[in-house]
Amino acid sequence: MKAMIVGATGLLGKALTREWVGDEVVGLGSKDVDILDASKVREVVDKVRPDWIVLAAAYTDVDGCESHSDLAFAVNRDGAVHVADAAKRIGAKLLFLSSDYVFDGKNTSPYETQDRRNPQSVYGRSKAEAEMRLLAVLPECCIARTSWLFGTGGKCFPDTILKLAASRPTLDVVKDQRGCPTYSVDLSRAIIGLCRNQASGIVHVTNAGNCSWFEFAREIVKNAGFASEVRPVGSQQMARPAPRPAYSVLSPKSLNPYGIVMPTWQDALQRYLQERKH
Ligand SMILES: NC(=O)c1ccc[n+]([C@@H]2O[C@H](COP(=O)([O-])OP(=O)(O)OC[C@H]3O[C@@H](n4cnc5c(N)ncnc54)[C@H](OP(=O)(O)O)[C@@H]3O)[C@@H](O)[C@H]2O)c1
Repeated sequence: MKAMIVGATGLLGKALTREWVGDEVVGLGSKDVDILDASKVREVVDKVRPDWIVLAAAYTDVDGCESHSDLAFAVNRDGAVHVADAAKRIGAKLLFLSSDYVFDGKNTSPYETQDRRNPQSVYGRSKAEAEMRLLAVLPECCIARTSWLFGTGGKCFPDTILKLAASRPTLDVVKDQRGCPTYSVDLSRAIIGLCRNQASGIVHVTNAGNCSWFEFAREIVKNAGFASEVRPVGSQQMARPAPRPAYSVLSPKSLNPYGIVMPTWQDALQRYLQERKH
């Protein structure tokens, strides 16, 4: 199998490139292919002729998307369609990374793949519209929704908490948003498994279990051995440009047919902390 990773220079893309052994893998950053440019995307895909394209490229600054909505839709929706069109021309399969932000966060039990999309932010809308457009272009494509991504080689929540804990005696962290942290290594392994299993349709891929940002931060600080006190605060005290879903726990049921079982987020965190030391 030949795989092409679009967005190979990002947090997920780096882990995916490292983890994907045993197949031929071509990893591309925005300097290699700008997904805003449909003809360049076509040219690169025609040249590489992959069996699978994993589309991890996106404009991921959730707050930035609120003030740059044209760019958000151009990259996250239209760029994704350019890749899907190019994949369709050569008969390549596509796995597209999407997000828990396609939901409104009003559920009180885990979101299933078929639950109604109702995004509350520009980023979430751009991803939700991309999903619908991709399913129209390539009905057999695989849409892997993930959440709260962390890993080495990029900005992420645990990295920020560790840097703050090294210099502050107290940290205030939001307690009223719940979700599923996801380690880039575990997500990468699941993606590779999905491609090898010819996955199609919408799947939810996160580490097992869920927590609030406060609980996540407390676990990070404890495991890293810092003495800082982590204090729970309400999200009104931490107002940000883009609304965040209060509850964005994704149900893992859609992974069952593929025999993929995700490790718990606590286990993933310990491996991340080890990886970060090296
Ligand atoms: N981070 C999260 O918590 C989270 C949660 C749910 C879903 N996701 C989704 O998971 C995927 C991976 O996220 P991530 O955190 O790994 O992203 P990231 O670290 O922000 O990396 C983004 C990647 O997209 C590429 N890119 C951006 N604009 C591009 C363009 N116009 N043309 C081509 N490439 C472009 C970047 O390339 P360069 O660096 O070379 O410019 C980079 O490789 C994304 O689809 C994201 O929406 C992320």
